[in-house]
Amino acid sequence: METRAVYPGSFDPVTNGHIDLIQRSAALFDHVVVAILGNAEKTPLFSVEERIDMLEEAIRDLRNVSVASFEGLLVDFVEKIGASVIVRGIRAVSDYEYELQMALMNRRLSNKVETVFMLPAESYSFLSSKLVKEIAQLGGKITGFVPAGVEKRLCRKYRIQIPS
Ligand code: PNS
Repeated sequence: METRAVYPGSFDPVTNGHIDLIQRSAALFDHVVVAILGNAEKTPLFSVEERIDMLEEAIRDLRNVSVASFEGLLVDFVEKIGASVIVRGIRAVSDYEYELQMALMNRRLSNKVETVFMLPAESYSFLSSKLVKEIAQLGGKITGFVPAGVEKRLCRKYRIQIPS
């Protein structure tokens, strides 16, 4: 039987750390759906459509990965699309507490869904969308932290000249 996994998140914007995790998940599961939360409390920098575009561009070489957005409870989305696994990345011990709480709550909400924690490459363990946005906004170099298309869009958002 095919195992379908969902990798959920805000992806505002997608970083190379996320891409690393998507690649690792794609090697483990038959199909991976990268799922962007649409109705988050926090105001995102990029619209859901922009985030879908950036992710689709970044994963276009991965044949068993697709991108979707969802609203409401994650476990409802996971069940609705016939998936059984939620993938979440843990970069450092500091991530663990929040991730554990979410995983246990999701298990309480649905006993059909299992959460799998994965580790990104060590070189991405310090990387986050929030830091990348802050660096870009302050005119710092974000090359290597995000896919090239995302770098361009971030520079455009903050009206910064794209580094050559
Ligand atoms: O990238 P993020 O912001 O850490 O992702 C958090 C996300 C989207 C996975 C989480 O906020 C989520 O699942 N939201 C959907 C609403 C939901 O199901 N809440 C209960 C979680 S226990």
